[in-house]
This record gives sequence, C-alpha cells and structure tokens, in this order.
Amino acid sequence: MARYEINGGKPLEGTVTISGAKNAAVAILPAALLVSGKCRVENVPDISDVRILLDILEGMGVKLAYPEPHVVELDSSEVQCTTPDPELVKKMRASYYLMGALLGRFGHAHVALPGGCNFASRPIDQHIKGFLALGADVDETEDYVALKPTEEGLHGARITLDMASVGATVNIMVAATLLPGQTVIENAAKEPHIVDLANFLNSMGAKIRGAGTDVIRVRGVQNLHGTTYTVIPDQIETGTLMIAAAATRGDVVIHGCIPTHMEALTAKLLEMGVRVTENDDSIRVRPQGVQRAVNVKTQVYPGFPTDLQQPMTSLLCMANGVSTVSETIFERRFMHLDELRRMGAHIKLMDHSTILIEGVRELYGAPVTVTDLRAGAALIVAGLMAKGVTEIYETSYIDRGYERIEEKLRSLGADIRREKLS
Ligand code: EPU
Repeated sequence: MARYEINGGKPLEGTVTISGAKNAAVAILPAALLVSGKCRVENVPDISDVRILLDILEGMGVKLAYPEPHVVELDSSEVQCTTPDPELVKKMRASYYLMGALLGRFGHAHVALPGGCNFASRPIDQHIKGFLALGADVDETEDYVALKPTEEGLHGARITLDMASVGATVNIMVAATLLPGQTVIENAAKEPHIVDLANFLNSMGAKIRGAGTDVIRVRGVQNLHGTTYTVIPDQIETGTLMIAAAATRGDVVIHGCIPTHMEALTAKLLEMGVRVTENDDSIRVRPQGVQRAVNVKTQVYPGFPTDLQQPMTSLLCMANGVSTVSETIFERRFMHLDELRRMGAHIKLMDHSTILIEGVRELYGAPVTVTDLRAGAALIVAGLMAKGVTEIYETSYIDRGYERIEEKLRSLGADIRREKLS
C-alpha cells in the first residue's frame, strides 16, 4: 500500500521517455503460448498487470528469463496446463487473453473470469461469440469459461462483432492463428495494440492481414516459430504525459512515442490553444495563452481514446469556458468525478454518458482516492494542477498501467512523493 503526495502548481519541464504499451504487452505475452518454442519480447513495461500475467504464465509451465530490464524470454515448449491459477487470473482484466491462446494451442481452456478495473460492466459476450463461431463448445459460469472443441472440431470462421471490441478482436485473432481455414473478423478493433499483436504473430509465422482496418483476415497455419519482437510505445502513457504537460503549462518533450497514434488528443490540445509539435518519435507540448474549453467525445481508434477521457477531464477543469465530455465506449466511466469535485472542480453529470465541466480558476489539493487505473491518472494530473498538497490513496490501480510514473514526473520537476503505508 502506498500513497502519492503532490505539491501542485509547478510547470513540468524537460524530456521524458515512454515505456512499452501495456495493452499491447498484455496481449502479446499470452500469445507466446501459441508456439512450442522461445519468444524474446523487448520493451515490456514494468507494471503490475504485466507482472501478474508473467506469474500466471510461469505457473502454467512457461519458462521465463529476464536477460535485461524490459526484456522477457518465454519458452512455452513444455506447457501442458490449460487451467491457469484462478486467483491470479481474477487479479487482472487481460487474463481473458489466455482463453484465445489456450484454445488456439491446445483446443481446450478452463479460465476463471477476469478481474481488473471495474469502472463499468465489462461483458465478454463477443469473445464467446467468436469462440463459438470457431467451433468451440463453451461452458460459461459465474466463475469461469471452459472451452473445448465441438464434434465438428475447431476451424476458421467469419465473425462480425456487434461492437469493435479490442478484447474480442485479440482473442479471436490469437485463437484463429493455428486453426484450419480462414477467419475473417468484421467490425474489428483498430487500436495500435491490435496492429502490434498482429505484427508479433506474423513474426512467428502467422498469416494475418488487415490489422488496423475494420476487417482482419487470419489464414490458419499449422506451425509457428519463436521470434524476437519489440512492443510499441504506450499510447495512453504518452497522452497522459501530454495532458500533464498542458495542465501545468509546462514545456515537455515526450520521446520514444508514435505521434500518429496521438492525433485525436493532439487535435483537441491544439483546439484548446496548447502548442503541440511533432518529430518522428517525439512530441513537444508547450503553453501559448489561454486554454479554451472544448468538447470531447470518446470513440474507437482513431477517435479520442476512452483511456484518456479521465485525465482529459482534469485538464478541462481549469480551461476557460464550459466543456462537455461524452463517454461512448464504457457507460459511467466517471468514478473520478467526485474526487475532482473535492478538489474544487465544477462538473455536472448530464446523463449516464455526458458531463459538463465549467472551468474554474484554481483547483485545491485534497485527499483523494483512486477507483481505477485512468481515474488514478486523472487525479495525478489534477494534483499537479492544484494549489497545495494532494494526497492520492489506492495507488495500486496506477501501478497496474504506469511504470514509475512518480519518477518520470519528478524528473520533469514535479513535486511528487510516493510514501509506503503500513
Ligand atoms: N463489450 C461488450 N461485449 C464484449 C466486449 C466488449 O459489450 O464481449 C463492450 C464493452 O463493455 C465496452 C465496449 O464493448 O462498452 C468496448 O470494450 P472493449 O472490448 O473494446 O474493451 P476491453 O477489451 O475490455 C480494452 C483495454 C481497455 C480500453 C478498451 C477500449 C486492454 C487489456 N484493455 O478493454 O484499457 O479501455 O479496450 O479501448 O486492452 C485501460 O488501459 O485502462 C483499459 C481499461
């Protein structure tokens, strides 16, 4: 248990480097189960979700080595277990990717239902629809999902998702990689981590085309081979730091990112009157005059990411005028609002998906509690903006997805301390 203490109001200045993408790493690492051989994965973020996932894989018999920081070697040759430790599985969301990987490699899986950030009801009916179409017999209870082949066996299929679900796209793509025939995923998610996962699988010999578009085609192969692969930089960490730079009216160069992944956020910051300039793999955020209120609507990629909605809301708390934020991906992803109000924000919930933010001149430090990962990012941003001291509790949510965030912010001049609580 720990808390952050932030003495706010200091502009962030300097250069910071982005870690590997959480949501790519948590899809790629379980996909290494598909190959009876070695995978070396580089640029793996050192965050608690990844650590839990690696513990699960190790418990299943994957041999792990850590030759350098941020590099993991996985050897799944001797894995036989298709029932990952339910207690560990329940600790995180992305453990549901074990279903697709185990179904693809062994044709069987018995996986507890995942835990993770519970900011909304997060059904997995589209994952199940995919597994059924691929010829799996699905036994779903309140505690677990068990998969095995039906009599006709597992095979490629055409699946049209009801919504462009990231998780379902990953699970179907991974499961289909080793199945006979062609799988077509229509209305597929297009997020950068989907493309990264497809690149990883293709580097092992998979035949996947169309990742990054609405239609992904997977031609099943009989065998995969080991690979060396580097995870892309984290889009959401990049965005969080861009927002933090703007929120403190600082001057920050964010290195090792992919600016094209950031276009929706960059456009909104420019609209607010923030200066954003880009190079090949870096983005600089600087202040220029008054920051104006804007309207934000979350959408699937390349739209404004839901995972940046919460930190963006903090930034808008001190923008000049009235902003609206519409959350269209997850209902009620607004658990951070009460905490922001405690810091002096004027925010009104208009309905289950829209909030109205009236910009105030100051936010004030206060004790606040994190309810989920990106709510944590929002409270850090608010703490950096606020006058006085903000104490942030339940920081383990933040550790799930941000690597050494306090050290990165301190290197930019933030007055932030992490304190262990007994
Ligand atoms: N949905 C269903 N049924 C399904 C799957 C999704 O109704 O079977 C709904 C969800 O309830 C939601 C929408 O479809 O309303 C989109 O959900 P999606 O499946 O795309 O989200 P996810 O796979 O559960 C991933 C990320 C989230 C990120 C979303 C949206 C991982 C491990 N998680 O979640 O990341 O918010 O995509 O981009 O990749 C985070 O990093 O903080 C985080 C929550």
